[in-house]
Amino acid sequence: MAWGLLLALCGALLAPAAAGGHHSLAVLVTAVISEDGTHHFTMITNVDDVQIAYYRSDTREVRPSQEWVAQALGAEYFQEKTQQFWRHEEGSKVETRRWMQLYNQTGGIHTEQVHVGCALSDQAPVDPRFQFAYNGRDFISFDNQTGTWVAAVQPAFAPKQHWETTGKAWTKFVQQYLQSECLGTLRSLVLQGRAVLEQQVPPEVSVFRRDAPDGSVTLSCCARGFHPRPIHVSWVRDGEDILAEKDSSGILPNADGTYSTQSSLEISPEQEDGHRYACRVEHSSLPEPPLIWAPGKKGPLTPGVLAAIILAVVVLAGAVGASVILWRRKSAGPSKPSYAPAATKSGEDSASSSSLGTDPLSVGLQS
Ligand SMILES: *[C@@H]1O[C@H](CO)[C@@H](O)[C@H](O)[C@H]1NC(C)=O
Ligand SMILES: *[C@@H]1O[C@H](CO)[C@@H](O)[C@H](O)[C@H]1NC(C)=O
Repeated sequence: MAWGLLLALCGALLAPAAAGGHHSLAVLVTAVISEDGTHHFTMITNVDDVQIAYYRSDTREVRPSQEWVAQALGAEYFQEKTQQFWRHEEGSKVETRRWMQLYNQTGGIHTEQVHVGCALSDQAPVDPRFQFAYNGRDFISFDNQTGTWVAAVQPAFAPKQHWETTGKAWTKFVQQYLQSECLGTLRSLVLQGRAVLEQQVPPEVSVFRRDAPDGSVTLSCCARGFHPRPIHVSWVRDGEDILAEKDSSGILPNADGTYSTQSSLEISPEQEDGHRYACRVEHSSLPEPPLIWAPGKKGPLTPGVLAAIILAVVVLAGAVGASVILWRRKSAGPSKPSYAPAATKSGEDSASSSSLGTDPLSVGLQS
């Protein structure tokens, strides 16, 4: 909280009228040298969490991942980058072999990873990085403040020595790249890609409850399919108290570029007595953080509810029966009673569950 306020104040002082926010550019290179000596080299570039370009040793071309990126950077940029990555690929072959020697390795599979990046926080450059890893461990990284290399392990002192003396041209390139080109590329991409990068997709939120045999209750709050990534999920009792969550899944990426998260809260029967619990979700797409109330404890069944359940079971049994008959008529093979137990499912309760009877029916009609 205090940090957030401080950063907000700093941002306000540094760039009073500028478009705010935090954006980053990351170039991630992976080079793998195989047992038979072949070398696979790949690169992806991300802005925030969106992939914008890639290179692979089989196509030997830096290509934009999205149309707006091609427009924002232009064809010339990609031609230039392609040639640069040919050189990086060749350099990486020499480098991995040299590092194998530093570790006294003569064969086997080895990987070199490079993470290069820069970021803008309310327009101010932050977090420049040029880091190498070898076989999954930090190897050497560039210190932007001093313009020198920091060896993470003993064998990395050799390249440090080299890059700070006879190989100074490389260090100059790194420094230039971080201080100017990286930030320039990031600025144009943020400008042209605002619609994609800052797309606001609100989460779909649902709250579930699970009653344990000992009477304790676990409430789970799922927020799905939101963008951008930052979100804050908390628990509220009777509309006031903010309680600590018990467990969180963390923020997980979905295949479509959105994110999901789940938070759960455990309460004892005493804590539940006479209180109502809700999940509160704060996200940039939502003007007001909504409260989603957890389903209450199931009371004794009223005649109306009971009648509805009986009716549902009867309809469901009819549907299952009809589909089994249809299915048997169409296929004379051995029967597979796979969907019969659906009618007994009633352990969990949620704010949105309705697909109970549809599956057997559709299976029966389609087959
Ligand atoms: C590689 O071998 C040399 C000579 O035997 C030795 O001095 C050095 O410590 C070894 N390096 C590693 C990383 O094991
Ligand atoms: C990187 O180092 C240069 C030179 O010391 C400095 O001017 C620049 O502000 C540094 N960048 C960041 C983001 O710290």
